[in-house]
Amino acid sequence: MYFYKNDFVNKKDVILSPDDRGYYFGDGIYEVFRVYNGKIYEQEAHMQRLQRTASEVRIELPFTIDKMGHILTQLIEKNGLNEGTVYMQITRGEAPRAHPFPAQAESILLAYCTEVRRPIATIHNGINAITLDDIRWLRCDLKTLNLLPNVMAKQAALDHGVQEVVLHRSGTVTECSASNLMMIKDGVLYTHPANHLILHGITRAVVLRLAHSQNITVKEEPFTTEQLLQADEAFITGTTVEITPILQIDGKAIGTGAPGPITLTLQNEFERTFA
Ligand code: PDD
Repeated sequence: MYFYKNDFVNKKDVILSPDDRGYYFGDGIYEVFRVYNGKIYEQEAHMQRLQRTASEVRIELPFTIDKMGHILTQLIEKNGLNEGTVYMQITRGEAPRAHPFPAQAESILLAYCTEVRRPIATIHNGINAITLDDIRWLRCDLKTLNLLPNVMAKQAALDHGVQEVVLHRSGTVTECSASNLMMIKDGVLYTHPANHLILHGITRAVVLRLAHSQNITVKEEPFTTEQLLQADEAFITGTTVEITPILQIDGKAIGTGAPGPITLTLQNEFERTFA
C-alpha cells in the first residue's frame, strides 16, 4: 500500500504525471524514517527537519504535520511493517515545464514503506571508504530530491570496490553520500558542525546525545582528510546505517583497522535505546 496525493492506493495505481516538478527539476523534498518494532524512530525530529526544508525551499506542505504523522502510522499498520523504512516525498506539484513556481500547482505527497532488516553485518564488521571531492551545492542542510552528486559519489565508491565515500571540500571533511561522519582522536569525538555544508542528520544528533551521556567529549569542528586518516576510530551515522565503523579510507587502516572501543560503546548505547 502506498499513499499518493490524497489516498492509500496500490503501487500499480500510483499514476505519476510527467509534469511533476520532481522529474523536471528535482523540485521536491523528502525524509527517510526508520521503523523499529512497528514504531517510527525520532519522528518529531524528522518532521521538524521536513518543515524546515519545506520552508527554506518554499514548498507548502500538503497536510499538517499531525495529519502526515497519522498517514505514516496508517501506512505502517496497513502494510504490517515491523522493521523497515518509510520514504516520504513532497514535490512542488504538476505544471508544464517552466522554471518559476507554478501559480496553480498543489504540492504532492508520496509515501510508502519497505521492509528492511538492520544492516547487522556492516554494523559489526565495518566498511571501507575512499575520499572524494564534495561537488554538491551550498545548501546540503536541505533534504531535497537533487541527489545526483550523492548518486555519483556512491557509485564511485562501488566502482572502487568500497562501500562509501568520505566527501571533502578542499581537504575539509564534510560527510558521506547518505550518512554523516564522525571520528575519534585521543578520546574526543569530532564531527563537522551542523551548518549549510552537511545534512543535519537525525542519527548524528542522537549519537551526539549518547556521547554526552557517556561523558565522551564532543567537538563539532571541521577536520581535514589528513586528520581523519590519523584518527583512532571513524564511523558513519544515518537512519539506514545506524553507527557503522569505517575500517579503511583510501586503502589506509583507521586506528587498528577494527571497530574501536568508543564506536562499540556508542553502538551498544544506540542498540539499548532504540533498536
Ligand atoms: N540519507 N547525510 C546525507 C547526505 C544523507 O542523505 C543522510 C540520510 C544523512 C543521515 O541523516 P539521518 O541520520 O537523518 O538519516 C546524512 C537518507 C537515509 C537517504 O537519502 O536515503
